[in-house]
Amino acid sequence: MRQDGRVPSSRASSKRSEVPPFYVMEVMRAAAEREQAGAEILHLEVGQPSTPAPSGALEAAKRALSSDKLGYTGAAGLPELRLRISQWYERYYGLHIDPARIVATTGASGSCVLTFLAAFDAGQRVAVIEPGYPCYRNDLMAFGIDVVPIPVGPETSYRPTVAALDAAGPFDGLVIASPSNPTGTVLHGSHLAELTAWSTANGVQLIADEIYHGITYDEPAPSALAHSDDVVVINSFSKFFSMTGWRLGWVVAPLDLAETVERLAQSLAIAPPTLSQLAAVAAFDCIDELDANVARYRQNRRLLLDGLPAAGIDRLAPADGAFYVWADVSHLCDDSQDLCRRWLDELSIATTPGLDFDQPRGHRFVRFSYAGSHDELARAVDRLSGWTP
Ligand SMILES: Cc1ncc(COP(=O)(O)O)c(C=O)c1O
Repeated sequence: MRQDGRVPSSRASSKRSEVPPFYVMEVMRAAAEREQAGAEILHLEVGQPSTPAPSGALEAAKRALSSDKLGYTGAAGLPELRLRISQWYERYYGLHIDPARIVATTGASGSCVLTFLAAFDAGQRVAVIEPGYPCYRNDLMAFGIDVVPIPVGPETSYRPTVAALDAAGPFDGLVIASPSNPTGTVLHGSHLAELTAWSTANGVQLIADEIYHGITYDEPAPSALAHSDDVVVINSFSKFFSMTGWRLGWVVAPLDLAETVERLAQSLAIAPPTLSQLAAVAAFDCIDELDANVARYRQNRRLLLDGLPAAGIDRLAPADGAFYVWADVSHLCDDSQDLCRRWLDELSIATTPGLDFDQPRGHRFVRFSYAGSHDELARAVDRLSGWTP
């Protein structure tokens, strides 16, 4: 990797494509190799639910397979899906969102691509929180947009402060995530109010990734849409709705920007997957089943928040939401990639080294996912507590 975070690729590739790889993929490949060789690996690296889509969504998909021709939908998605998403905002947050402001996408990943293209030009500056989800940085880099990292740490429970934004400015856009991947930090109403007010005052387009909404353990995470109609919100069926491989997400944007997102989507994707859209409409009738998944994450979270300190790993980020624990492991190693490799070799536990989420400081951190089974986690905690570096 070079100083500017870019990774040189082959001569035939464009400069814009020189984005860093996903280092977690290397862990997953190494874990898969060991599994093929007969080892039983405990998976604490995966960032996805271990449950299938809810039963109502599966039923709707089966019906659609036998009765629907499954052609393209409109680029912004099926009207009934956009309506159900709008009703979800009413029911879950008490917010009225015009369905015309909602564009269905191919996952939050598709939402990021469309939003960044719709909102920013090459050469503009967009701030991202570090540690944070790496695709924001990589997408922005690929689009020729300058990435401004805003480092956050335990002193603010990994929340960005207005002082930090002032110090890093000026910039044109700001991407936040609540709950955050990898730290689990939730931005409560007062934080969102501050960040939206600051963005409005400074002419900054705020983009809030709310993909882990629904997966919180104290109070529900409030939406940035409660504080401003100018914010762009990104969300998806991949996490709370447990439909990761169905590749469906959505964007809520101010009307004019939503129209731009839709226009770009016509060319970039034509439409999100039709079968997934029909299934997702039915997923909104399965909230009890989805809440039961969250109840399991809650138990898993407790196990990890008790078990890791007992294993000597006790500098942990808040884990208010999502299904991750972000742990400072610098007392165990100089490079968390080595540590993750050793845990995989010696304990058959797969974890994610921090480098994906924080290029300058990630070598001191590991992300543990507790999206898997309770039994798997219990065995992982047991093995970690008996391990010495
Ligand atoms: C914070 C965050 N945003 C976006 C995504 C992309 O999700 P999707 O599966 O909806 O494309 C992920 C996936 O892990 C994520 O953690």
